[in-house]
Amino acid sequence: MRIDLFTLFPEWFDWFLRQRHFQNALSAGTEIRLFNYRNTTPLGAGQVDDAPYGGGAGMVLRVDVVDAALRSAYGEGEDPSRVVVLAASGRPLDDALAGELAGEPSLALLCGRYEGIDERVRENLATDAISIGPYVLSGGELAAMVIADVVIRKLPGSLGHASSAVEESFSEALGGAPEYPHYTRPASYRGWGVPEVLLSGDHARVRKWRLEESRKRAGGASGR
Ligand SMILES: C[S@@+](CC[C@H](N)C(=O)[O-])C[C@H]1O[C@@H](n2cnc3c(N)ncnc32)[C@H](O)[C@@H]1O
Repeated sequence: MRIDLFTLFPEWFDWFLRQRHFQNALSAGTEIRLFNYRNTTPLGAGQVDDAPYGGGAGMVLRVDVVDAALRSAYGEGEDPSRVVVLAASGRPLDDALAGELAGEPSLALLCGRYEGIDERVRENLATDAISIGPYVLSGGELAAMVIADVVIRKLPGSLGHASSAVEESFSEALGGAPEYPHYTRPASYRGWGVPEVLLSGDHARVRKWRLEESRKRAGGASGR
């Protein structure tokens, strides 16, 4: 898989891309590339944004600037299979959407800034608009990192244990429910114990208990 990140602030990704599971994914053949809209802007003096038509506060990332960045990366007619605009108003990201994206050969993630991106990008250049939640970030970079992270976790070879990503919160293996609780040593700490079943060595009982706990959480048992 290839993930291309389009941004005005490529340095935001420096630390992120150095992390272990990205390095594992890169070794396993995943390619990640960074593109700065400012490097390919067709406008003078590195301009990338403009005032919104109709007035109002803030500046808007221009459609010709985003198009120039995409054309410079892909040429004519060679766009990735999914071109995603990050937008608070987009389709909410969930595990199913992450799985869908992980099945694609190539992704482009377009980070907005300021008041956002000219809507013609979403209408004509993108295949998707995705939101990571009902709140507003200062830019699309953190949202792109969230998407890249959940997608990469689903690729073979990125996690230490292949099974780690199969049975976890919201996965099909748990019927879309949150994951069950985990405990480790010590078995007692400040008087806080561990459920007896987990110490029993009875795998069938452990399995049953875990599925029950997962279902309880799906029922909204405790927010803790
Ligand atoms: C300050 S925000 C623009 C907010 C926009 N005016 C609005 O009210 O929706 C700048 C950029 O951050 C990104 N962004 C902000 N919140 C986001 C979210 N919840 N999910 C995905 N991207 C987000 C988008 O790329 C957006 O263009």
